[in-house]
Amino acid sequence: MKLFALIAAVLVTVNASTDKDQWVAFKQTHGKTYKSLLEERTRFGIFQNNLRTIEKHNAKYEKGEETYYMGVNRFADMTVEEFKHMLGLQAEARPNLNATLHVFPEELEAPKFVDWTQEGADLGVKDQGHCGSCWAFSVIGSLEGQNAIQHKVKIPLSEKQLLDCSESYGNRNCEEGGFITNAFNYIKDKGIESNSSYPYFDRKATCKYDASKTILKIKGFKELRASEMQLKKAVGTIGPISVAVSSEHLRLYGGGVITTRCIKDLDHAVLAVGYGSENGRKYWKIRNSWGKTWGDHGYFKLARDAGNLCGVASMASYPLL
Ligand SMILES: *[C@@H]1O[C@H](CO)[C@@H](O)[C@H](O)[C@H]1NC(C)=O
Ligand SMILES: *[C@@H]1O[C@H](CO)[C@@H](O)[C@H](O)[C@H]1NC(C)=O
Repeated sequence: MKLFALIAAVLVTVNASTDKDQWVAFKQTHGKTYKSLLEERTRFGIFQNNLRTIEKHNAKYEKGEETYYMGVNRFADMTVEEFKHMLGLQAEARPNLNATLHVFPEELEAPKFVDWTQEGADLGVKDQGHCGSCWAFSVIGSLEGQNAIQHKVKIPLSEKQLLDCSESYGNRNCEEGGFITNAFNYIKDKGIESNSSYPYFDRKATCKYDASKTILKIKGFKELRASEMQLKKAVGTIGPISVAVSSEHLRLYGGGVITTRCIKDLDHAVLAVGYGSENGRKYWKIRNSWGKTWGDHGYFKLARDAGNLCGVASMASYPLL
């Protein structure tokens, strides 16, 4: 509610208050401090550019020409280039898919509406910090979901273990990222610790994996054929599903359903936690890993059955417990 009020306030006041006022509020909200006056001046310039982008976009949204709105979030003082550190999907590292492909039968009916957040199989929005570890958060999200659904156990699991320890499975670091199925292969061999025994921070460190502390193993994983119908059956009948998207419209996203095509390739791993329709528009509900102050309480919505928008169904997978 608080965030909604904030977004509404931003929508209304973006033109009314001065850039300086908004800058002061922004720094306070996101705890921003800068090393020098020079850096602050540069950041303020970037912030002003982003404000203009947001204002233009939201004016269109108010006229009904856009289906989602933008908001001032913690990326508002960053350039597009710097924002890339908030991603981390190494999509080109995708292994041969045939061995793990699962195809749901034509006749399997998925429900009309699913929200795993409400069902308790989504343990909530986390924050990858300034590290390209989206792939680890996507994997842990679907794993926690299956653990909640199948074992009725709701324990936050360790993204940090994946970041520190899965290098020999093809994953890299905060700068170069990693890939979802490499992480599943690692967990299949080693198991996974809880976040409390192996807690997250946004830097890669030496692997401290302790086999005696693993609390969950998996038999393997399945990948889906790139089809929104298959993804619907998976999210509808299995649980939260690890997916990849193009992050093109996400940087300043504030809420609503994204319906604009992406031109860029898949570069961000996230978690599909539901689907439905609002105001006659079908959507996917997707959990991001940029904290709860980003987007719609940490989530975003992408148009569904809109030609695999931003690649949402292109690289979907889930663990087998
Ligand atoms: C997967 O299997 C299909 C059909 O058998 C084949 O055409 C395709 O080349 C295979 N893909 C890979 C990456 O091996
Ligand atoms: C995971 O551990 C980190 C570090 O202790 C903590 O900040 C974070 O809140 C934990 N996440 C969850 C979901 O418990």
